[in-house]
Amino acid sequence: MDRIAVMDFGGQYCHLIARRIRDLGVYCEVVPSDIRADELRNMDDLKGIILSGGAASVYDKTSPKCSPEILKLGVPVLGICYGHQLIAFMEKGVVRYGREGEYGTTMLDVKDKNAILKGLNRTERVWMNHRDIVERLPPGYKILASTQHSTIAAYANYRKKIYGVQFHPEVTHTTRGMRILKNFAREICKARKEWSTQDFIDRAIKETRQIIGNRKAVLGLSGGIDSSTAAVLVEKAIGKNLTAVYVDTGLMRYGETEFMKKIFGRRSMRFRVVDAGRIFFKALKGVTNPEKKRKIIGALFVRIFEQEAAKENARVLIQGTIYSDRIESGITKHSSIIKSHHNVGGLPKKMNLEVYEPLRDIYKDEVRKVARKLSLPQEIINRHVFPGPGLAIRIIGDVTPEKTDIVRRASYVVEEELKKAGLYNKIWMGFAVLLSIKNVGIQGDQRTYRYPIVVRIIESKDAMTANFTKVSYQTLEKIATRIVNEIKQVNRVVYDITNKPPGTMEWE
Ligand code: XMP
Repeated sequence: MDRIAVMDFGGQYCHLIARRIRDLGVYCEVVPSDIRADELRNMDDLKGIILSGGAASVYDKTSPKCSPEILKLGVPVLGICYGHQLIAFMEKGVVRYGREGEYGTTMLDVKDKNAILKGLNRTERVWMNHRDIVERLPPGYKILASTQHSTIAAYANYRKKIYGVQFHPEVTHTTRGMRILKNFAREICKARKEWSTQDFIDRAIKETRQIIGNRKAVLGLSGGIDSSTAAVLVEKAIGKNLTAVYVDTGLMRYGETEFMKKIFGRRSMRFRVVDAGRIFFKALKGVTNPEKKRKIIGALFVRIFEQEAAKENARVLIQGTIYSDRIESGITKHSSIIKSHHNVGGLPKKMNLEVYEPLRDIYKDEVRKVARKLSLPQEIINRHVFPGPGLAIRIIGDVTPEKTDIVRRASYVVEEELKKAGLYNKIWMGFAVLLSIKNVGIQGDQRTYRYPIVVRIIESKDAMTANFTKVSYQTLEKIATRIVNEIKQVNRVVYDITNKPPGTMEWE
């Protein structure tokens, strides 16, 4: 399959570049910036390389650099923002610290519409986010466009097929950004459109058959879109050799087990419910550290899967891990471990099962497309994400059945009210968090001393960044009133107005 590699220099938009290229139908993957030139050379069907943006300055000793050999591989290269500066620096041009930064939208004066800027107007709106600028071009390079602050806002070396843009074509504020990426991927790199949802499904089924063969496999089915999609995909490949195991940890959403039985109980794959609430509560007793909770839950899951696998004579554990889970668990060099998502970094090192993750390379919006193509029920496709460790990480402090019940019911109220307000399908997720502290209130003329509940409602495109949702006060008031009225252990509700970063979506 023709592919474009995006080298990750740590920019927050690095993955957005890859997703945009995939939206053009061209397969694209993110690779670390210190990848060796020969590794890229050996990559099958590599048609182009993009150097992503990044926060560093090329003159910092510690800033990420790449091998200059990468510019000599003979495949077209595009540098974006930091990548644009790095190419100029490696090719012996001059980059300097800008007197002023250039942040936000600005107008681009297009001078050369021959290649990367083909099809653009004379002036175009672009989005900038930089301080350093390329001051002098390396030999053999030509200016393609300028802005008020950056004379060299885009350049090309036509002979070497190397291009650079100081602005960000991948963000929607750059009006014709997609055209620029298309010019690069399709026209300059000549990469074929081989990445579609159907292609992905066909390849994943083939890969699953190759990897699993005639063996039996168990799959950890949580009811979220990722594991549900993985289940249906793998079912297509190996049918009855797949046993989907749904573990009721006692930390699940309201009414979840009934929901799962309704959806998966009648499919052709084998489906099993393990009632494990007591074991989980016992193992979590007194544990307050979030990472410890994740590790305990991850280890218990694996133990249960091992037991279930033994019953089935299965050697493989299939998980619905997707690309962003792996990034946040630190698969790439410049992304630090934020949380050990239990289905990635939280798995014990010693495990009697081989792990297979058919969705490991796709993004959330791509999983949704796959799910639609595989005709998964709307209730699954549209449901909010739910963390693997479940409500345990929505209870700050130690986890007890009573607290779990409170937070479960409060979250259910949040979801119901979001549905009534027509917001549920427009946002990333809405839920409640229970703080293990008590506060004073007044109810029915009496002093109360009860739990506060935090309501968190957020919008996000890909889970990497998020904003809190500006829900109307009316809806918030309904949520707060219902929670306090319906859950007797709660007397106060607060709304979390923190974005990600600096906060994560979950509180733990
Ligand atoms: P954070 O809190 O990291 O969450 O901003 C991003 C998304 O990931 C979900 N999440 C998890 N999912 N295991 C999971 O399977 C986990 O340990 C975990 N922690 C967070 C979270 O619900 C949100 O959608």
